[in-house]
Amino acid sequence: MIKKPDLLFRKGLRKTARSLASAMESLVTRKHLNRAGVRHAAKLVSYTSKRELEALLNLALACPQGANALEIGSHLGKSACYLASGLSARNGHLYCVDTWQNETMHDGEADTLSEFKQNTQAVSHILTLRRTKSSALCASDISLPLHLVFIDGDHTYDVVRGDFEKIAPWVADDGIVAFHDCLSYKGVSRVIGEVLSSGEWMMLGHVDNLFWIARAKFSQ
Ligand SMILES: C[S@@+](CC[C@H](N)C(=O)[O-])C[C@H]1O[C@@H](n2cnc3c(N)ncnc32)[C@H](O)[C@@H]1O
Repeated sequence: MIKKPDLLFRKGLRKTARSLASAMESLVTRKHLNRAGVRHAAKLVSYTSKRELEALLNLALACPQGANALEIGSHLGKSACYLASGLSARNGHLYCVDTWQNETMHDGEADTLSEFKQNTQAVSHILTLRRTKSSALCASDISLPLHLVFIDGDHTYDVVRGDFEKIAPWVADDGIVAFHDCLSYKGVSRVIGEVLSSGEWMMLGHVDNLFWIARAKFSQ
């Protein structure tokens, strides 16, 4: 029988290990942000959590050399800085799609493009901006195939469904699609549920409110 002090000791050890792992993760993230010249990104305003941003950076780092990535919903550039930091280590490129009119945001409509540009200046050489609604995005606006897509624009069901249906054929065989606000917006969770139940995509991972999926490959 395991004694109570032993259990408490083990629990303490697990907690210490988790804190150490998290501290290591933050150090690695800081190193990549520094290298890309966007150290300030950690202080920018965003609803995307630190853990989610670190996960996005790691997904970008896992992309192949010369990868193309797409972000739908770039806001003030925080997630773009993290994605670009990972992509710059892979000689990759990031397409940012946003109206930069602050649509669907709680603080009301406003022109956010100059703030985005200021925040992402150091990585601007690997960014291409497409100022449009995601529904108007065309294949000719970006380089294909896409190795990583981050969907974080309008979170209503119809728009998320439309965004996913549009980009899915553009995604490389081993590409990844990440969705933000999967637990806090019914539209997003419904789309993910439908996509997974199609059997064509599988869940790869999640951190907090960020889920990412890849094409399902079944061997016979
Ligand atoms: C939640 S913010 C994105 C946050 C950003 N990914 C980050 O983590 O820092 C959503 C953004 O999507 C944009 N947006 C809303 N509806 C859109 C649409 N239909 N097409 C393109 N962008 C849209 C808004 O202007 C806003 O900047």
